[in-house]
Amino acid sequence: MSQQVFADTEALARHAAARVATLCREAVENHGSCHLVLAGGHTPRRCYELLRAMDLPWAALHIWFGDERCLPPGDAGRNDAMADGALLAHVPIPPAQVHRIPAEQGPEAAAAAYAALLASAPAMDIVLLGMGEDGHTASLFPGNPALDDTRLAVPVHDAPKPPPVRVSMGLSVLNAAHHRLILVMGNAKAGALARVRRGDPLPAARLAEGEWLIDQDAASPPA
Ligand code: 6PG
Repeated sequence: MSQQVFADTEALARHAAARVATLCREAVENHGSCHLVLAGGHTPRRCYELLRAMDLPWAALHIWFGDERCLPPGDAGRNDAMADGALLAHVPIPPAQVHRIPAEQGPEAAAAAYAALLASAPAMDIVLLGMGEDGHTASLFPGNPALDDTRLAVPVHDAPKPPPVRVSMGLSVLNAAHHRLILVMGNAKAGALARVRRGDPLPAARLAEGEWLIDQDAASPPA
């Protein structure tokens, strides 16, 4: 488990943005495009804000979402709404290359639609992920059937983190990506992180090898 600890959230966000930029440029140099999966929640926002000031091959980027909450388009609670505000509304990625999860269609229909899109897509180049206090990642929660659902995109019901109905990329897609960057900030995550480190079978522990970017608070003993 490759992990780097940063003094504070700003240092972590700066490193994450620099890593995404480097990996994006490498992907575009290697195969002409970069398929980047964005994480939701609050953790990655600053990284996204820093990315938008960078000189990236935006026209060659394809944006995907690791998960989405089943809320109406434009709802402030949606993960794509956060990404729009922090990054996508500010950079010249062709709109047809921003592959939003149609979560407003409901979990089953949206998961089927996204799975069909993923089936015709290459492996993701970079997946950004967060982790919850219970060790969930994307919308794959402990004990939830979605975690072991082998489809490329999966419907999620009864998520303990509101809203309860979501769509997530399946674990196989997250693990088939070339690079995973997992961003973990705050002492509230310290307990779950310690459990991942010791091998407890939490969803985040089932991610394939990735770069864990952790702030000092999350690396410290749980309060
Ligand atoms: C979501 C995210 C979720 C998030 C973690 C961490 O829909 O909320 O997909 O997996 O990454 O819950 O959330 P924070 O970054 O807000 O702590």
